[in-house]
Amino acid sequence: MNATAVQDRLLEIRPLTPKLGAAITNVRLADGMSDELFRAIYQAFLRYQVLLFPPQDVPPGEQVAFARRFGEVQIHVMAQYHADGYPELYRLSNLDANGKPTGKHPDKGTLAWHTDGSWQRVTGQATIIYGEVMPETGGETHFCDMYGAYERLDANWKARIANMRAVHNLDFSRTRRHGEDLMTEEQKRAKPPVDHPIVRTHPETGRKCIYLGDHAEYIVGMPYEEGRALIEELNALAVHPDLTYEHHWQARELLLWDNRCVQHRATAYDPATQGRVIRRCTVLGEVPV
Ligand SMILES: [Fe+2]
Repeated sequence: MNATAVQDRLLEIRPLTPKLGAAITNVRLADGMSDELFRAIYQAFLRYQVLLFPPQDVPPGEQVAFARRFGEVQIHVMAQYHADGYPELYRLSNLDANGKPTGKHPDKGTLAWHTDGSWQRVTGQATIIYGEVMPETGGETHFCDMYGAYERLDANWKARIANMRAVHNLDFSRTRRHGEDLMTEEQKRAKPPVDHPIVRTHPETGRKCIYLGDHAEYIVGMPYEEGRALIEELNALAVHPDLTYEHHWQARELLLWDNRCVQHRATAYDPATQGRVIRRCTVLGEVPV
């Protein structure tokens, strides 16, 4: 039986848009799963790029166990976000110890289109987010298909960027652009800037996609400002409304996506009056080529 037939037999799949995203409506993640069921989910992950699991209880340990089936789970360098005794989990919350909104957005860098872990040599594969508390308005997560974005570049653009590499730098995106808490010298030493191809080939589907986003700072071998301008231009060109899925969250949903071929961003919400708490983990993938 081929992969699509196995998916059809084991999974109830509801596409979220014509281009990307699907809801898996018949799987309870906390029940554990057979290898066959996981393989079907993994094939759906490669095919749809973004998977949504409807509201259900997914305790922290179950989320980590699910993530480990995809591969090695990243231990994030920003240790202040670690959650529930699991260094693999990273919680973003604007609530204080009494559950009251603090007014402080926990990570404004997430508001810009990006791909998780592009600031490391081995970059992010899947990101898995569980929504613990969600605001009534705002706080959405948007996804854009980077295969389609590459395919829509004209021949001149494709030729121009074919062998270009961009330097990705967490200290640049997080600290200098978005004014978050400064990284310590030790954190900066642990995660120095790294360069990646702007056009990468997905290691499993073999398809080309744009690999850039907000962590990209400059272009190797190009004057800094010229490279900045090119990155800004290409980041804007990469996002197409009809290649985008905009997810309005309900609490207790779980979203999973492939960082190798989608970019994502969160939308703003009012952190003074509404709560938003997510717990997330990112699975490590490979060195992009
Ligand atoms: Fe992200």
